[in-house]
Amino acid sequence: MIRLMYCSQAKPGFGSQTLEEILLASRKNNKQANITGVLVHGGGLFLQVLEGPELAVLRTYMKIVDDKRHTDSRIIHITPIKDRIFDNWTMGVLEGNPLTFENVAKLRAHRLETVAADSFTEVIREFESMLLR
Ligand SMILES: Cc1cc2nc3c(=O)[nH]c(=O)nc-3n(C[C@H](O)[C@H](O)[C@H](O)COP(=O)(O)O)c2cc1C
Repeated sequence: MIRLMYCSQAKPGFGSQTLEEILLASRKNNKQANITGVLVHGGGLFLQVLEGPELAVLRTYMKIVDDKRHTDSRIIHITPIKDRIFDNWTMGVLEGNPLTFENVAKLRAHRLETVAADSFTEVIREFESMLLR
């Protein structure tokens, strides 16, 4: 298995309805592909973690990169893994401000939830330190 984390920029006009559409498709497809993860959305940015079988994650990421609802997708981190972090989230979502990483850790047990978030940068920092540990 691998874990891939990327960030990207939402296209102007991106709204909650579009996010809902993305999540609907993600949860259906990711379940089939044995992919779990989280999508953080705030300040016009996305941060997403995808984890699962290597080929499935890379195929999914290739689809995502081509998606016209966002731009400038950059892989931040990619690594082989033995264990999942978001093992019971087909695609969790964190939205808005503010949130500390502690909240994210607590929420791992609750898939399919939308949660208020503290600060997008803080989440990214926390994610990075967690993944690099
Ligand atoms: C920020 C962002 C994150 C996305 N995450 C996923 C995802 O985790 N899984 C997924 O299947 N599609 C995801 N998508 C949607 C894909 O780009 C694509 O629209 C979708 O997979 C097509 O699904 P379909 O073939 O069932 O219509 C994401 C799109 C965006 C813009």
